[in-house]
Amino acid sequence: MIDYDGEALDYDASRGGEPRAQATVEALDRLLPRGRCTVLDIACGTGIVTRRLLRPGRTVLGVDCSQGMLRLAARRVPGGVVQGDASGLPVASGSVDAVVIVWLLHLLLDPVPVLAEAARVLRPGGTLITTVDKDDAYFVPDSDIARVTAEARRQYAPRVPDHCARVLDWAARQGLVEAGETEFPGTGQGRSPRSWQEAIQAGRIPWAGPDRMTGVCDGLAALPDQDTARPDPLYRVLALKYFGEHTRRRDSPRPRSRPHDVSDPLPPGRA
Ligand SMILES: C[S@@+](CC[C@H](N)C(=O)[O-])C[C@H]1O[C@@H](n2cnc3c(N)ncnc32)[C@H](O)[C@@H]1O
Repeated sequence: MIDYDGEALDYDASRGGEPRAQATVEALDRLLPRGRCTVLDIACGTGIVTRRLLRPGRTVLGVDCSQGMLRLAARRVPGGVVQGDASGLPVASGSVDAVVIVWLLHLLLDPVPVLAEAARVLRPGGTLITTVDKDDAYFVPDSDIARVTAEARRQYAPRVPDHCARVLDWAARQGLVEAGETEFPGTGQGRSPRSWQEAIQAGRIPWAGPDRMTGVCDGLAALPDQDTARPDPLYRVLALKYFGEHTRRRDSPRPRSRPHDVSDPLPPGRA
């Protein structure tokens, strides 16, 4: 896991800045409930997205485990962020209308405790919205880097914690129903073949580990326009609707219920 405390000051600029945050919120808004509602932003980071979720009638709370990230978020959403672990949220059960999780699941060894917590805090009828397949976002259809990296990524995909099929499988067993899907662009984040090779050689790309590295790098080196950035990544976002405890399949474990550190975590009337 990245040291987000250390990364906090560089985070926004290195992840597409305000244009990326705006594109993210436009995508989330296509899936969020309309009108008065409470929204929990799990792993809110610097609050760059959280702040843009605020609307008249919508109460928004951000949760993150990193003090460094939260310090920045608290400036953007005063009184609207708390420190907490996504696998043990300081939020009452059945208390929010929607949960958003942007760019967290791919970082986890096991996404299930976090998804279970998200389901626990949702009201029946509530919506869980999460990014999935994050590391595959760069490989938009018809891109040449998608083609030369396809086999390495295909072999690696089943092990990815935010693999869409894996999230949907968990959701089905918990009684959550797929309710929509959209995507947002990582504005300015497209990479050139040369920058991919450098990242692979530096060991920063999990699907191109030592065993697959040579073949993938040879393929990338053979592409034309070595320093031309390819299309911006398109990040996939999934919405799941939670219909309550009774819809959970009998063979599935109940989500962990935890004591609530915060009895009424949402500041009233935040818009
Ligand atoms: C890639 S950043 C995403 C931030 C934000 N959602 C955004 O779109 O800008 C991942 C965030 O997840 C937080 N995080 C990682 N593990 C966490 C956990 N177990 N509980 C809460 N936050 C966590 C990190 O501190 C970091 O702020």
